[in-house]
Amino acid sequence: MKYGNFDDNAREYVITEPETPRPWINYIGRQDYVGMISNTGGGYSFYQDPRYRRLVRYRYNNAPRNVGGRGLYVRDAESGEYFSPTWQPARVDLDDYECRHGLGYTTIRGEKDGVAGEVTYFVPPGEDLEAWRVTVENDSDEPRSLQLFSLVEFCLWDAMDDISNYQRNYNTGEVEVEDSVIYQKTEYRERRNHFAYFACSADIDGFDTQRDAFVGQYDGFDEPQVLEDGQATDSIAHGWSPIGSHQVDLELEPGESEDIVFLLGYHENPEDEKFEAPGVLNKEYVEGTIEEYCDPDALDAAFEELNEFWDDQLSALQVETPDEETDRMVNTWNAYQNTVTMNLARSASLYETGLTRGIGFRDSLQDQLAVLHQFPDRARQRILNLAKIQLKDGGAYHQYTPLTGEGNADIGGGFNDDPMWLVMSTAAYVKETGDTSILEEEVVYENEPGTEAPLAEHLQRAVEYVWERRGPHDLPLIGHADWNDCLNLNCFSENPDESFQTAEHDVDEERAESVFIGGQFVYAVEELAELAEQTDVLPEAAEDYQRYADEMAEAVADAGWDGKWFRRAYDHFEDPIGSSENDEGQIFVESNGMCGMAEIGREDGKVQDAMDSVRERLATEHGIVLHQPAFTEYDERYGEITSYPPGYKENGSVFCHTNPWIMITEAKLGNGERAFDYYKRICPAAREDISDVHTTEPYVYAQTIAGPDAPTTGEAKNSWLTGTAAWNYVAITQHILGVRPNHDGLVVDPAIPADWDEYEVHREFRGATYEITVENPENVESGVDRVEVDGEEIDGQTIPDLGDGETHDVRVVMG
Ligand code: GLC
Ligand code: GLC
Repeated sequence: MKYGNFDDNAREYVITEPETPRPWINYIGRQDYVGMISNTGGGYSFYQDPRYRRLVRYRYNNAPRNVGGRGLYVRDAESGEYFSPTWQPARVDLDDYECRHGLGYTTIRGEKDGVAGEVTYFVPPGEDLEAWRVTVENDSDEPRSLQLFSLVEFCLWDAMDDISNYQRNYNTGEVEVEDSVIYQKTEYRERRNHFAYFACSADIDGFDTQRDAFVGQYDGFDEPQVLEDGQATDSIAHGWSPIGSHQVDLELEPGESEDIVFLLGYHENPEDEKFEAPGVLNKEYVEGTIEEYCDPDALDAAFEELNEFWDDQLSALQVETPDEETDRMVNTWNAYQNTVTMNLARSASLYETGLTRGIGFRDSLQDQLAVLHQFPDRARQRILNLAKIQLKDGGAYHQYTPLTGEGNADIGGGFNDDPMWLVMSTAAYVKETGDTSILEEEVVYENEPGTEAPLAEHLQRAVEYVWERRGPHDLPLIGHADWNDCLNLNCFSENPDESFQTAEHDVDEERAESVFIGGQFVYAVEELAELAEQTDVLPEAAEDYQRYADEMAEAVADAGWDGKWFRRAYDHFEDPIGSSENDEGQIFVESNGMCGMAEIGREDGKVQDAMDSVRERLATEHGIVLHQPAFTEYDERYGEITSYPPGYKENGSVFCHTNPWIMITEAKLGNGERAFDYYKRICPAAREDISDVHTTEPYVYAQTIAGPDAPTTGEAKNSWLTGTAAWNYVAITQHILGVRPNHDGLVVDPAIPADWDEYEVHREFRGATYEITVENPENVESGVDRVEVDGEEIDGQTIPDLGDGETHDVRVVMG
């Protein structure tokens, strides 16, 4: 069952049924001002920090989902009937409904009884505001007297306080109204110098700023009092719940339409210019912006600019393959999701509340892997920002807060995979850009002035951190957890009120080890050894590190090998996890993926055996599950992983983030069929037809898909903000389609389904453009017979870094 379709030319997903199985959302805004819009106009907005600078309220755990926050209503003044063109909040059945989620904008159109309302939401590039460009159209044969009502429910800035501290915040709300602009200035009288405004381009026929006046004491957003009455009350909020609502009366002849613009913006005034008169907000700095964008033409120009921005962003890598779903993911949606995850990490979605999590060290570093070709400068900056929260011992704070850039002390460090991601992402950055100067950037530790050291030294400390923390089998100690946050082998928690990740350790000495980090260490240290050859800021590192990598690989191949696959870990009692010796959790995907990518024991067939075991024991029609058998009981030796019912989350779901590690390993082995088969199993576009099972958006990846042990097998959860996006993009573009940067140039090394005869990759790389055509005359899965650059055959499979600003034709013949 489908709820819409892809419009590939427009780069839009078109939803034709408002009652999707879950709210299907989109993001507007990229950097400072960010909003989410669902297919029924819901969602929330914030400036930079989703907790401390929240503009639009979100009602957590609400039923129905996603009501409040934003709204639009069109009312027939004569009949008193009204509807929402976005279906919610009014939830009146529409004669016609369509939502188009595009890149950085969403357009929703709803029609009822001959009147259509259409709204496009977007953030004009570079501005701290969201625009709603609304058109109301009389499609009937009669002149119509209509009324348009807007609604923004303001959040009182600190979104956590907003939902928890009523004794205070029922008293703090303050607004001002001037002409058609409503200013939300709660707490501005004291320590805030920021405020929000909600402007309307039309002269208004009334307004409301107090929620209860608009909605009524006992009514809902679906039947607000003001819509029942047909007249705003001009309420001024003193405390309680400030909102912004405009009333615009319209007389429309048959066929006539009117454009009305609403702007919801954020602004910070200079500290000494907060007020224009005692207690009166200084509006001077926003007046110009409001005037500018209330003009629909100026807004249209900004919209054009937004589209050009995206054309430009996506043009760095475009493909044409025999598979339509691959093309639409790679060319548009996966790349788009990558930019969202790059910007927001795991902070704010409809599943991530924006209240608790900052920018995660491990998560954000992995997100960079997929955007390096798109915006290398921003990725460079993010890598450096993350390096600032590295600890002096080489470990890292697990998260930082976007507003301050400081490490989150509540969570601290001790996730022992964290530092390795810094090495892996820095290496990937240098391979993409050739910019080794990043290694010389002076970066502090722990955000502490005076501790500056070149990034290269940060990487070395990262390696030493893991190297110095090895356990009884010479494998890395796991700490609180590695990639799998829920494998908590030092926790032994009996207290339901504590977090598995941060609980005080019960163990006197940490002994639990991670095979996953062992694999990751080998991978990362080999990258570092290669990096060292590119630059002289890593003196002598290359040789030392090769030795570290070899020794670790030996430990993994020895204690980390179970006979047919890589084990997962050793617990506190030195017993294996992920072994045929276990009753449950006998085999795990993530250690097999990571050790496979690191090619540990490849020469003696271990990697192939591991992949065969994964295929036999973990691969399902909905993707590859984390482990089997799932844990059926809570086991304090293992921690949170055993807290989830079987088949969900870390206890045996298809945790989509890990699947690409298997795709990449299969591709490295030359198994194109298998690699692509796994790619398609979790590819959201390929699951569109089973939307009733999958339930989340068919255009973006979700974190998990319930595994076979769960009663709701195949159901996805936690869409949008997941490392799945970055890794799948890396898997399909760099390993299956096989075009990936190394230090010397672009390698072409396909691993594809044998029945593909040909495909094309357009790739910008270090200032030149490569039009790559891969031909597969013998219908093989992998292997390259010859590569021609501009008609000349080259040695090997690496297109040299030509860096000449020109376009080059590359012909690759497989065989
Ligand atoms: C979540 C976390 C990520 C972790 C994964 C597995 O996605 O954001 O850091 O690796 O869960 O536990
Ligand atoms: C829970 C989730 C995991 C997440 C962690 C940190 O343990 O299962 O995916 O990474 O919380 O927020």
